[in-house]
Amino acid sequence: RHKVIFDTDPGVDDAMALYFLTRRPEFDLLAVTTVHGNLDVGTVTRNALWLVERLGLDVPVGRGAATPLARPGGAGAPHVHGAGGLGDLTPPAHLARTVDPRPGWQVIVDLVRAHPHEVTLIAVGPLTNLALALRHDPAIAGLVAGVSLMGGAFGTHGYSGNMSPVAEANILSDPEAADLVMTARWKVTILGLDVTQQVVMDAAYLDRLGEQGGPDGAFLRAVSRFYQGFHEQSRGLAGIFAHDSLAVIQVLAPHLFTLRRGPVRVVCGGLADGQTIQKPVGMPGPPAPAWDAAPPCAVAVDVDVAGVLALYADT
Ligand code: BDR
Ligand code: CA
Repeated sequence: RHKVIFDTDPGVDDAMALYFLTRRPEFDLLAVTTVHGNLDVGTVTRNALWLVERLGLDVPVGRGAATPLARPGGAGAPHVHGAGGLGDLTPPAHLARTVDPRPGWQVIVDLVRAHPHEVTLIAVGPLTNLALALRHDPAIAGLVAGVSLMGGAFGTHGYSGNMSPVAEANILSDPEAADLVMTARWKVTILGLDVTQQVVMDAAYLDRLGEQGGPDGAFLRAVSRFYQGFHEQSRGLAGIFAHDSLAVIQVLAPHLFTLRRGPVRVVCGGLADGQTIQKPVGMPGPPAPAWDAAPPCAVAVDVDVAGVLALYADT
């Protein structure tokens, strides 16, 4: 079983990814850590506690960073995920679950240290907690099994960012943290918009989840309605991008993805703030010290869309 920590800013697609993860016997979820992003960290932490409670999980929920590493925080994305972050759904006023007393980065460090070489970090929000964990304990880079993250946009299919022409939301929410995470000496796999925008769950698919997926499916259908409305209005899309679920699915079913290896750097500031740029291994051209000094990451450039959709629905 894959021991995993789920680092998240729920978030509709975050919730959908956590449901998938939780219902797969191949995963052993050790903790959930939360981070500013889709909304403020207090709101997304409350959402995470509610999800954990609904799913009947007994895992620590570590409240993570409230702001990016080196700049002020943004306004979040209530227009995408709803005013409370989970579409039209609102957690009850009283939740039985409470947060772990440790900060999110500390939960990560402690669990990685407790299970050397066994823990995979699945990160589906801004990368602040992972960067803080690295800063506090750089040796964890050599102690994790790997990092699978949703973020970035590499333009391999002719479209790129969702926050600017070149920047994706999770990365633009904390570019300095993303650059630290992508240049650390651990095994990073990056699921960016190049693949996550290929996987569209259309209305009929979501309806089927609702009709055939029992209580979990009913929840997934309900939580995704507002998000679907956003995709319809902003993209003319009759469905939703699966985004965060892909970071989970990649750990379970890597054969569904085509990966390209090479160091990745993140632009921090200026017109291209938050852009992720890979120098593919073997790419001809001049030396590029900013890349050449960094270890290679694996960037997903293609995905078996039907395979991913079938795996999610079957689960
Ligand atoms: C990412 O941004 C967030 O809004 C989603 O939850 C996802 O993690 C997509 O760009
Ligand atoms: Ca997210």
